[in-house]
Amino acid sequence: KLVPVVLSGGAGTRLWPASRQAYPKPFMKLGGQALLEQAVARGQACGTDELLVITNQDHLFLTRNLLEQLADPPLAHFLLEPQGRNTGPAIALAALHCAARHGPDTVLLVLPADHLIPDTRAFVACALEAAQLAQQGQLVVFGIHPTTPETGFGYIEVEHVGRESQRVLRFVEKPDLATAQEYLATGRFYWNSGMFCFTAQTMLDALAAHAPHALETARQALREGVTTGDVTRFDTHLFGLQPDISVDYAVMEHASNVSVVPARFGWSDVGSWPAVAQAHTPDASGNTFIAEVVDVDTQDTHVQVESHGPKIVATVGVRDLVIVDTPDALLVANKHSAQKIKSVVDALKERG
Ligand code: GDD
Ligand code: MG
Repeated sequence: KLVPVVLSGGAGTRLWPASRQAYPKPFMKLGGQALLEQAVARGQACGTDELLVITNQDHLFLTRNLLEQLADPPLAHFLLEPQGRNTGPAIALAALHCAARHGPDTVLLVLPADHLIPDTRAFVACALEAAQLAQQGQLVVFGIHPTTPETGFGYIEVEHVGRESQRVLRFVEKPDLATAQEYLATGRFYWNSGMFCFTAQTMLDALAAHAPHALETARQALREGVTTGDVTRFDTHLFGLQPDISVDYAVMEHASNVSVVPARFGWSDVGSWPAVAQAHTPDASGNTFIAEVVDVDTQDTHVQVESHGPKIVATVGVRDLVIVDTPDALLVANKHSAQKIKSVVDALKERG
Protein backbone atom coordinates (compact mmCIF):
# COMPACT_ATOMS: atom_id res chain seq x y z
CA LYS A 1 0.00 0.00 0.00
CA LEU A 2 1.28 3.44 -0.98
CA VAL A 3 0.37 6.55 1.02
CA PRO A 4 1.41 9.98 -0.24
CA VAL A 5 2.37 12.17 2.73
CA VAL A 6 2.00 15.83 1.92
CA LEU A 7 4.13 18.14 4.04
CA SER A 8 2.43 21.49 4.03
CA GLY A 9 4.33 23.78 6.31
CA GLY A 10 6.33 26.39 4.44
CA ALA A 11 5.81 30.08 5.08
CA GLY A 12 7.56 31.11 1.87
CA THR A 13 8.45 34.63 2.99
CA ARG A 14 10.62 35.18 -0.09
CA LEU A 15 7.46 34.90 -2.18
CA TRP A 16 5.70 37.85 -0.55
CA PRO A 17 3.11 39.18 -1.39
CA ALA A 18 1.66 36.09 -3.10
CA SER A 19 2.53 33.96 -0.08
CA ARG A 20 1.44 35.26 3.33
CA GLN A 21 1.21 34.01 6.87
CA ALA A 22 -2.54 33.42 6.57
CA TYR A 23 -2.20 32.18 3.01
CA PRO A 24 1.18 30.49 2.69
CA LYS A 25 3.13 29.09 -0.21
CA PRO A 26 1.22 25.79 -0.69
CA PHE A 27 -1.91 27.82 -1.49
CA MET A 28 -0.13 30.03 -3.97
CA LYS A 29 -1.36 29.41 -7.49
CA LEU A 30 1.09 28.70 -10.25
CA GLY A 31 -0.22 27.90 -13.68
CA GLY A 32 -3.81 28.08 -12.46
CA GLN A 33 -3.50 25.51 -9.66
CA ALA A 34 -2.39 25.88 -6.07
CA LEU A 35 0.95 24.17 -5.41
CA LEU A 36 -0.72 22.00 -2.77
CA GLU A 37 -3.32 20.87 -5.28
CA GLN A 38 -0.54 19.90 -7.65
CA ALA A 39 1.20 17.88 -4.93
CA VAL A 40 -2.02 16.01 -4.15
CA ALA A 41 -2.57 15.30 -7.85
CA ARG A 42 0.99 13.99 -8.05
CA GLY A 43 0.28 11.55 -5.21
CA GLN A 44 -3.02 10.41 -6.73
CA ALA A 45 -1.33 9.87 -10.07
CA CYS A 46 0.71 7.13 -8.37
CA GLY A 47 -2.53 5.15 -8.19
CA THR A 48 -3.80 5.63 -4.65
CA ASP A 49 -6.79 7.29 -3.03
CA GLU A 50 -5.12 7.52 0.38
CA LEU A 51 -3.50 10.75 1.48
CA LEU A 52 -1.90 11.93 4.69
CA VAL A 53 -1.58 15.68 5.13
CA ILE A 54 0.61 17.19 7.83
CA THR A 55 -0.07 20.84 8.32
CA ASN A 56 -0.60 23.56 10.90
CA GLN A 57 -3.94 23.46 12.69
CA ASP A 58 -4.68 26.99 11.40
CA HIS A 59 -4.67 25.70 7.83
CA LEU A 60 -7.13 22.82 8.21
CA PHE A 61 -10.07 24.66 6.67
CA LEU A 62 -8.14 26.16 3.77
CA THR A 63 -6.67 22.72 3.06
CA ARG A 64 -9.92 20.82 3.42
CA ASN A 65 -11.71 23.31 1.17
CA LEU A 66 -9.10 22.89 -1.47
CA LEU A 67 -9.30 19.07 -1.34
CA GLU A 68 -13.10 19.04 -1.41
CA GLN A 69 -13.13 21.09 -4.57
CA LEU A 70 -11.03 18.52 -6.45
CA ALA A 71 -12.80 16.54 -9.15
CA ASP A 72 -11.67 13.33 -7.45
CA PRO A 73 -11.14 14.10 -3.72
CA PRO A 74 -8.68 11.74 -1.98
CA LEU A 75 -9.34 9.85 1.27
CA ALA A 76 -7.37 12.30 3.34
CA HIS A 77 -6.32 12.13 6.95
CA PHE A 78 -4.91 15.24 8.65
CA LEU A 79 -2.21 15.42 11.31
CA LEU A 80 -2.59 18.95 12.69
CA GLU A 81 0.48 20.59 14.13
CA PRO A 82 0.07 23.16 16.90
CA GLN A 83 3.41 24.57 15.70
CA GLY A 84 6.03 23.66 13.11
CA ARG A 85 8.67 21.24 14.42
CA ASN A 86 10.44 20.69 11.09
CA THR A 87 10.43 17.64 8.84
CA GLY A 88 12.07 15.18 11.27
CA PRO A 89 9.14 15.11 13.70
CA ALA A 90 6.58 15.50 10.88
CA ILE A 91 7.94 12.40 9.15
CA ALA A 92 8.28 10.49 12.43
CA LEU A 93 4.59 11.15 13.14
CA ALA A 94 3.65 10.12 9.60
CA ALA A 95 5.57 6.85 9.91
CA LEU A 96 4.05 6.06 13.31
CA HIS A 97 0.56 6.93 12.11
CA CYS A 98 0.84 4.84 8.93
CA ALA A 99 2.41 1.85 10.72
CA ALA A 100 -0.49 1.82 13.19
CA ARG A 101 -3.23 2.43 10.68
CA HIS A 102 -2.08 0.59 7.54
CA GLY A 103 0.74 -1.64 8.78
CA PRO A 104 4.53 -1.35 8.99
CA ASP A 105 5.06 -2.30 5.34
CA THR A 106 3.13 0.72 4.08
CA VAL A 107 5.16 2.70 1.58
CA LEU A 108 5.21 6.43 2.37
CA LEU A 109 5.85 8.88 -0.45
CA VAL A 110 6.74 12.20 1.16
CA LEU A 111 5.82 15.17 -1.02
CA PRO A 112 6.41 18.78 0.00
CA ALA A 113 3.31 20.81 -0.83
CA ASP A 114 5.26 23.64 -2.40
CA HIS A 115 7.21 22.10 -5.26
CA LEU A 116 6.64 22.56 -8.95
CA ILE A 117 6.92 19.46 -11.18
CA PRO A 118 5.30 20.14 -14.56
CA ASP A 119 5.53 16.56 -15.92
CA THR A 120 3.39 14.35 -13.67
CA ARG A 121 3.81 11.26 -15.83
CA ALA A 122 7.60 11.39 -15.68
CA PHE A 123 7.36 11.92 -11.94
CA VAL A 124 5.10 8.88 -11.46
CA ALA A 125 7.57 6.61 -13.25
CA CYS A 126 10.31 7.67 -10.83
CA ALA A 127 8.02 7.47 -7.80
CA LEU A 128 7.03 3.87 -8.62
CA GLU A 129 10.68 2.96 -9.03
CA ALA A 130 11.33 4.53 -5.62
CA ALA A 131 8.44 2.54 -4.10
CA GLN A 132 10.08 -0.70 -5.26
CA LEU A 133 13.38 0.24 -3.66
CA ALA A 134 11.48 1.27 -0.52
CA GLN A 135 10.00 -2.23 -0.33
CA GLN A 136 13.56 -3.56 -0.29
CA GLY A 137 14.29 -1.59 2.87
CA GLN A 138 15.81 1.51 1.30
CA LEU A 139 15.35 5.14 2.29
CA VAL A 140 14.88 6.63 -1.16
CA VAL A 141 15.71 10.18 -2.21
CA PHE A 142 15.24 11.80 -5.62
CA GLY A 143 18.38 13.28 -7.19
CA ILE A 144 18.31 16.53 -9.13
CA HIS A 145 21.17 17.40 -11.50
CA PRO A 146 22.89 20.33 -9.82
CA THR A 147 23.58 23.46 -11.85
CA THR A 148 25.02 25.84 -9.25
CA PRO A 149 26.77 25.42 -5.87
CA GLU A 150 23.49 26.14 -4.09
CA THR A 151 23.99 26.01 -0.32
CA GLY A 152 20.30 25.62 0.57
CA PHE A 153 20.09 22.02 -0.65
CA GLY A 154 21.17 18.59 0.49
CA TYR A 155 23.89 16.90 -1.61
CA ILE A 156 23.83 13.23 -2.56
CA GLU A 157 27.10 11.52 -3.46
CA VAL A 158 27.10 8.50 -5.78
CA GLU A 159 29.65 6.41 -7.65
CA HIS A 160 28.57 7.70 -11.07
CA VAL A 161 25.89 10.25 -11.87
CA GLY A 162 23.55 8.79 -14.49
CA ARG A 163 20.00 7.74 -15.19
CA GLU A 164 20.01 4.61 -13.02
CA SER A 165 18.93 4.27 -9.42
CA GLN A 166 21.80 3.43 -7.11
CA ARG A 167 23.07 3.32 -3.56
CA VAL A 168 24.04 6.62 -1.99
CA LEU A 169 27.60 6.88 -0.70
CA ARG A 170 27.04 9.99 1.37
CA PHE A 171 24.32 12.54 2.08
CA VAL A 172 25.38 16.03 3.16
CA GLU A 173 22.77 18.60 4.12
CA LYS A 174 23.42 22.27 3.25
CA PRO A 175 27.21 22.32 2.81
CA ASP A 176 28.99 25.67 2.85
CA LEU A 177 29.79 27.35 -0.45
CA ALA A 178 33.36 26.08 -0.76
CA THR A 179 32.25 22.50 -0.10
CA ALA A 180 29.32 22.83 -2.53
CA GLN A 181 31.72 24.08 -5.21
CA GLU A 182 34.01 21.13 -4.55
CA TYR A 183 31.09 18.69 -4.81
CA LEU A 184 29.91 20.22 -8.07
CA ALA A 185 33.41 19.93 -9.56
CA THR A 186 33.61 16.18 -8.87
CA GLY A 187 30.46 15.55 -10.91
CA ARG A 188 29.44 12.83 -8.46
CA PHE A 189 26.69 14.67 -6.62
CA TYR A 190 22.99 15.27 -6.99
CA TRP A 191 20.91 17.83 -5.16
CA ASN A 192 18.31 16.35 -2.88
CA SER A 193 14.79 17.20 -4.07
CA GLY A 194 13.26 17.03 -0.58
CA MET A 195 10.87 14.22 -1.58
CA PHE A 196 11.39 10.82 0.05
CA CYS A 197 10.08 7.28 -0.20
CA PHE A 198 10.38 4.48 2.40
CA THR A 199 8.26 1.98 4.30
CA ALA A 200 6.98 3.04 7.70
CA GLN A 201 9.13 0.33 9.31
CA THR A 202 12.34 1.38 7.53
CA MET A 203 11.88 4.98 8.71
CA LEU A 204 11.02 3.90 12.26
CA ASP A 205 14.16 1.74 12.37
CA ALA A 206 16.27 4.61 11.05
CA LEU A 207 14.83 7.01 13.60
CA ALA A 208 15.42 4.51 16.40
CA ALA A 209 19.06 4.22 15.32
CA HIS A 210 19.87 7.86 14.51
CA ALA A 211 17.29 10.08 16.20
CA PRO A 212 15.81 8.13 19.13
CA HIS A 213 14.77 11.31 20.96
CA ALA A 214 12.76 12.53 17.97
CA LEU A 215 11.11 9.12 17.67
CA GLU A 216 10.29 8.85 21.37
CA THR A 217 8.81 12.35 21.62
CA ALA A 218 6.79 11.80 18.43
CA ARG A 219 5.47 8.52 19.85
CA GLN A 220 4.46 10.29 23.02
CA ALA A 221 2.77 13.16 21.13
CA LEU A 222 0.82 10.69 18.98
CA ARG A 223 -0.14 8.50 21.94
CA GLU A 224 -1.77 11.49 23.65
CA GLY A 225 -3.14 12.85 20.37
CA VAL A 226 -6.91 12.92 19.82
CA THR A 227 -8.35 11.57 16.58
CA THR A 228 -11.86 12.56 15.55
CA GLY A 229 -12.94 11.46 12.10
CA ASP A 230 -10.22 12.35 9.63
CA VAL A 231 -8.33 14.68 11.95
CA THR A 232 -5.65 14.05 14.59
CA ARG A 233 -4.85 16.89 17.00
CA PHE A 234 -1.96 17.05 19.44
CA ASP A 235 -1.33 18.39 22.89
CA THR A 236 0.62 21.62 22.37
CA HIS A 237 3.06 20.95 25.20
CA LEU A 238 3.86 17.37 24.17
CA PHE A 239 4.15 18.39 20.53
CA GLY A 240 6.60 21.12 21.51
CA LEU A 241 8.85 18.59 23.25
CA GLN A 242 9.85 17.23 19.84
CA PRO A 243 13.22 18.50 18.65
CA ASP A 244 13.24 21.07 15.82
CA ILE A 245 15.29 19.08 13.31
CA SER A 246 14.93 18.23 9.64
CA VAL A 247 14.84 14.63 8.44
CA ASP A 248 17.95 15.39 6.40
CA TYR A 249 20.06 16.12 9.49
CA ALA A 250 18.25 13.64 11.74
CA VAL A 251 18.30 10.61 9.45
CA MET A 252 19.58 11.00 5.88
CA GLU A 253 23.09 12.13 6.84
CA HIS A 254 23.55 9.09 9.08
CA ALA A 255 21.74 6.19 7.43
CA SER A 256 23.64 3.65 5.31
CA ASN A 257 20.58 2.29 3.47
CA VAL A 258 19.92 5.33 1.31
CA SER A 259 19.24 4.96 -2.43
CA VAL A 260 18.72 7.63 -5.03
CA VAL A 261 16.37 7.69 -8.01
CA PRO A 262 17.63 10.30 -10.46
CA ALA A 263 14.81 12.72 -11.23
CA ARG A 264 13.92 12.34 -14.87
CA PHE A 265 11.50 15.25 -14.55
CA GLY A 266 11.70 19.03 -14.24
CA TRP A 267 11.66 20.21 -10.65
CA SER A 268 11.68 23.48 -8.78
CA ASP A 269 11.18 24.12 -5.09
CA VAL A 270 10.00 27.61 -6.09
CA GLY A 271 12.02 29.15 -3.31
CA SER A 272 12.09 32.67 -4.72
CA TRP A 273 10.55 34.81 -7.46
CA PRO A 274 13.38 34.15 -9.93
CA ALA A 275 12.73 30.41 -9.40
CA VAL A 276 9.03 30.97 -10.12
CA ALA A 277 9.97 32.88 -13.26
CA GLN A 278 12.29 30.05 -14.31
CA ALA A 279 9.48 27.54 -13.97
CA HIS A 280 7.61 29.36 -16.76
CA THR A 281 8.46 29.54 -20.43
CA PRO A 282 9.88 32.98 -21.23
CA ASP A 283 9.05 35.03 -24.33
CA ALA A 284 11.75 36.08 -26.79
CA SER A 285 12.89 38.90 -24.47
CA GLY A 286 13.16 36.63 -21.44
CA ASN A 287 9.95 37.96 -19.89
CA THR A 288 7.48 35.80 -18.00
CA PHE A 289 4.13 37.50 -17.84
CA ILE A 290 1.31 35.92 -15.84
CA ALA A 291 -0.84 38.93 -16.50
CA GLU A 292 -1.98 41.17 -19.30
CA VAL A 293 1.13 43.22 -19.99
CA VAL A 294 1.82 45.94 -22.51
CA ASP A 295 5.56 45.98 -22.69
CA VAL A 296 7.78 48.47 -24.39
CA ASP A 297 11.45 47.65 -24.36
CA THR A 298 11.21 45.25 -21.41
CA GLN A 299 13.59 42.38 -20.70
CA ASP A 300 13.90 39.46 -18.27
CA THR A 301 11.00 40.71 -16.22
CA HIS A 302 8.42 38.65 -14.35
CA VAL A 303 4.95 40.14 -13.95
CA GLN A 304 2.20 38.40 -12.02
CA VAL A 305 -1.17 39.94 -11.25
CA GLU A 306 -3.58 38.43 -8.75
CA SER A 307 -6.10 41.24 -8.38
CA HIS A 308 -9.80 40.42 -8.48
CA GLY A 309 -10.78 42.40 -11.54
CA PRO A 310 -9.00 42.75 -14.86
CA LYS A 311 -5.92 44.91 -14.75
CA ILE A 312 -3.42 45.91 -17.39
CA VAL A 313 0.23 46.33 -16.49
CA ALA A 314 2.55 48.42 -18.64
CA THR A 315 6.32 48.13 -18.37
CA VAL A 316 8.58 50.54 -20.22
CA GLY A 317 12.35 50.41 -20.51
CA VAL A 318 12.93 48.06 -17.60
CA ARG A 319 14.81 44.81 -17.12
CA ASP A 320 15.40 42.17 -14.45
CA LEU A 321 12.34 43.13 -12.45
CA VAL A 322 9.83 41.11 -10.49
CA ILE A 323 6.43 42.79 -10.31
CA VAL A 324 3.74 41.02 -8.30
CA ASP A 325 0.39 42.65 -7.76
CA THR A 326 -2.19 41.34 -5.29
CA PRO A 327 -5.39 43.01 -4.04
CA ASP A 328 -3.67 44.58 -1.03
CA ALA A 329 0.04 44.62 -1.79
CA LEU A 330 2.34 45.40 -4.70
CA LEU A 331 5.93 44.20 -5.04
CA VAL A 332 8.50 45.76 -7.35
CA ALA A 333 11.90 44.15 -6.92
CA ASN A 334 15.13 43.65 -8.78
CA LYS A 335 15.56 39.97 -9.65
CA HIS A 336 19.07 40.02 -8.24
CA SER A 337 17.78 41.21 -4.86
CA ALA A 338 15.00 38.66 -4.68
CA GLN A 339 16.46 36.90 -1.64
CA LYS A 340 16.01 40.13 0.34
CA ILE A 341 12.23 40.08 0.02
CA LYS A 342 12.26 38.31 3.38
CA SER A 343 13.25 41.67 4.89
CA VAL A 344 9.98 43.18 3.69
CA VAL A 345 8.09 40.59 5.68
CA ASP A 346 10.26 41.29 8.73
CA ALA A 347 9.69 45.04 8.37
CA LEU A 348 5.93 44.53 8.09
CA LYS A 349 5.96 42.34 11.20
CA GLU A 350 7.72 45.07 13.15
CA ARG A 351 5.07 47.57 12.11
CA GLY A 352 2.46 45.11 13.38
N1 GDD B 1 3.95 20.08 7.97
C1 GDD B 1 5.18 20.54 8.07
N2 GDD B 1 5.68 20.81 9.30
N3 GDD B 1 5.89 20.72 6.96
C2 GDD B 1 7.15 21.21 7.09
C3 GDD B 1 7.72 21.52 8.33
C4 GDD B 1 6.92 21.30 9.51
O1 GDD B 1 7.32 21.54 10.65
N4 GDD B 1 8.97 21.98 8.12
C5 GDD B 1 9.16 21.97 6.78
N5 GDD B 1 8.06 21.51 6.15
C6 GDD B 1 7.86 21.35 4.71
C7 GDD B 1 8.07 22.67 4.00
O2 GDD B 1 6.84 23.31 3.81
C8 GDD B 1 8.66 22.24 2.70
O3 GDD B 1 7.66 21.92 1.78
C9 GDD B 1 9.43 20.96 3.03
O4 GDD B 1 8.85 20.48 4.23
C10 GDD B 1 10.93 21.16 3.18
O5 GDD B 1 11.16 22.08 4.22
P1 GDD B 1 12.14 23.32 4.02
O6 GDD B 1 12.21 24.06 5.31
O7 GDD B 1 11.75 24.10 2.80
O8 GDD B 1 13.52 22.57 3.80
P2 GDD B 1 14.79 23.12 3.03
O9 GDD B 1 14.40 23.78 1.76
O10 GDD B 1 15.60 23.91 3.97
O11 GDD B 1 15.60 21.76 2.69
C11 GDD B 1 14.97 20.58 2.21
O12 GDD B 1 14.54 20.73 0.87
C12 GDD B 1 15.59 20.91 -0.11
C13 GDD B 1 14.96 20.99 -1.49
O13 GDD B 1 14.01 21.98 -1.57
C14 GDD B 1 15.99 19.46 2.37
O14 GDD B 1 15.35 18.22 2.18
C15 GDD B 1 17.15 19.62 1.39
O15 GDD B 1 18.01 18.50 1.46
C16 GDD B 1 16.60 19.75 -0.03
O16 GDD B 1 17.68 19.94 -0.96
MG1 MG C 1 12.71 24.59 1.00
